[in-house]
Amino acid sequence: MSLQGKKILLGITGGIAAYKSAELSRLLIKAGAEVRCVMTKGAKAFITPMTFQALTSNPVHEHLLDPDAEAAMGHIELARWADLVLIAPATADVMSKLVSGSADDLLTTLCLATAAPVAIAPAMNQQMWANPATQANVATLLERDISLWGPDSGDQACGDFGLGRMLEPQSLLQHIEQFFYQKILKGQHWVITAGPTVEAIDPVRYLANRSSGKMGYAIAEMAAKAGAEVTLVSGPVCLAAPFGVNRVSVESAEAMLASVKDAVTEHSVFVSCAAVADYRPKDVANEKMKKSGDEGLVMELAQNPDILKWTAQESGAFCVGFAAETQNVSEYAKAKMERKGITMICANDVSRCDIGFSCDDNELSVFYREQGDVKQQSIGPANKSLVAEQLIQLIDNIRQSK
Ligand code: C5P
Repeated sequence: MSLQGKKILLGITGGIAAYKSAELSRLLIKAGAEVRCVMTKGAKAFITPMTFQALTSNPVHEHLLDPDAEAAMGHIELARWADLVLIAPATADVMSKLVSGSADDLLTTLCLATAAPVAIAPAMNQQMWANPATQANVATLLERDISLWGPDSGDQACGDFGLGRMLEPQSLLQHIEQFFYQKILKGQHWVITAGPTVEAIDPVRYLANRSSGKMGYAIAEMAAKAGAEVTLVSGPVCLAAPFGVNRVSVESAEAMLASVKDAVTEHSVFVSCAAVADYRPKDVANEKMKKSGDEGLVMELAQNPDILKWTAQESGAFCVGFAAETQNVSEYAKAKMERKGITMICANDVSRCDIGFSCDDNELSVFYREQGDVKQQSIGPANKSLVAEQLIQLIDNIRQSK
């Protein structure tokens, strides 16, 4: 229930994307928000107020000068009620009205009368979006701190292709969640590695470690939500890039190190969650190797660079390591913290089948140095998102206390 108790005033204007706002209002309710809808005359040409009333369990507000509606919840009261006003879809017309400060219907009047933040999710034909008049309006609205979510590019209902599609409801929900999330990491830059590295043997075979990337991706997602600028350097995984994160895809440990070097600065926080292969084949065959009969194969391996050690020693970033162990978890983790020269390490026991590898849950023992001592704090067992949320708070606290 990421939006528990949040009051969202959803303004719907006249565009075909209005049908998507029905789904959006359902997602908002599911996330715990209270939703009140305001529809313009144009919106009602595409979808009926009854749809939104049924989905939000609240009457839909339609008219500015309706004595009955004003007696129930007047427009000023409605404007004060909202924590966020979101206009989705926002037509070129409503954007122009917001710029001019027009108040000729309920929605535009509410936008003038509210102290709440206003966001718009534009939806229109690509030519209308590209028109200099619309672009000038966009610039003015951004100057006035109105949030602009979208538009997306793609097929349009009119048959055109281009920028102007309203963002999908799920994506708008993510924008809203991000909007309300406490920005404790604002102004910070986090570099996070995740997933395995794969080390080529020949064009079809490789050596790799087991890693789904889920923990690193959860940390990247939560850090971005908390306002950090996030670079996620990821080995091959089956996960979508988290919302608001800059993902750099790599394969080998050497490529991962190169991307980390590009991204990290002395002011960054570096979280090394990747399962980096310790070794790589010394020689990579250019062609697929043929079976040698029954003699087996002896392969010479070369040591891979230690990305975390390099970052800790050379970059000046605040470094956090991970230690996946199957035995003596805390002892090995503390020794690793020493060896790599880092302040914090998160240990997890990957011998258990309910946490760690590929699971949605995790439990961490976090060790960190404080005034000469090594302290420990446990996080979880819990969903990896929750573990990530608590971990980024702990990392930030320890970093601030340095
Ligand atoms: O593999 P190992 O147990 O040493 O991993 C401990 C930490 O070091 C992890 O944070 C991992 O991401 C990092 N590491 C690394 N480069 C390596 C090996 C491990 O950054 N070559």
